[in-house]
Amino acid sequence: MERLLGKTAIVTGAAQGLGAAIAARFCAEGASVIIADVNEQGLTAIAESIGPLCATFPCDVRSEDSVSDLVDFARDSFGQLDIMVNNAGILGPVGSITDVEIDAALEAIRIHLIGTIAGIKHASRVMRAQGHGVILNTASTAGLRGGLGPHVYTAAKHAIVGLTESAATELVHYNIRVNAIAPGGHLTPLVARVLTGRDDDFKAAEKMMIERSPQGRAAKPEDIAGAYVYLASDEAWFANGACLVVDGAREVPGNLASMNTTKS
Ligand SMILES: NC(=O)c1ccc[n+]([C@@H]2O[C@H](COP(=O)([O-])OP(=O)(O)OC[C@H]3O[C@@H](n4cnc5c(N)ncnc54)[C@H](O)[C@@H]3O)[C@@H](O)[C@H]2O)c1
Repeated sequence: MERLLGKTAIVTGAAQGLGAAIAARFCAEGASVIIADVNEQGLTAIAESIGPLCATFPCDVRSEDSVSDLVDFARDSFGQLDIMVNNAGILGPVGSITDVEIDAALEAIRIHLIGTIAGIKHASRVMRAQGHGVILNTASTAGLRGGLGPHVYTAAKHAIVGLTESAATELVHYNIRVNAIAPGGHLTPLVARVLTGRDDDFKAAEKMMIERSPQGRAAKPEDIAGAYVYLASDEAWFANGACLVVDGAREVPGNLASMNTTKS
């Protein structure tokens, strides 16, 4: 199982949660992976657990310079950048739209949307020069319908889906594929916070997820990683401008009421 053998990948927001699981799986598939995050301690711990194919780079996706430096580090250290995963994210402000704090909204938009724009901009700079590449943007089922997440988070994720389609139409001419993935309820600190109000109450969060799951089980971060491997691999050469939903049928109309987080 070395579907990414010889490839170099960046995964942002990889000090925990989905990003850490994606990075671990990419390395297991033979890729060299640079994990990037604002949480430097978390990065070190994840890199140690993954092993020698994993390098770290402290990066704040709110800063274009930081994202540009990250991409240059990949190119200069590994000679190429084959895969860019724009995954860093936060929950952002929750509660009524009437009470939303504009500064908190801007912060969430900056991390999710502007961070993804910067990631696409700088990864495609390197990928165009080398003649190929794959960009994967972490969206959400909340980016496909309203009512599944907080308002600003929902808006930012909808924008990421649109941005993915838009960028794909241009970058296809440079042999660069751009796709989104829409996870929907994988047990991470972010989802634990959504469900329980706390980042670390995994036990209570898991119980709630099982109760709400059409399949009667809670998805772990590892359960999304295969979707990223597929879209990053050469066998997905025809998948472009798409958004792959991985949510255990929760997004299907009829199951939509399962995780309404617009209430604080
Ligand atoms: N877990 C799910 O079920 C789920 C569902 C839909 C979408 N998502 C999306 O998946 C992505 C990862 O979420 P997660 O559940 O693993 O959350 P998480 O909170 O466990 O991990 C998010 C990571 O992003 C990092 N980060 C935050 N701000 C950053 C910044 N400015 N620069 C760099 N890194 C930063 C955090 O330090 C953290 O390590 C997010 O974009 C989230 O919106 C997750």
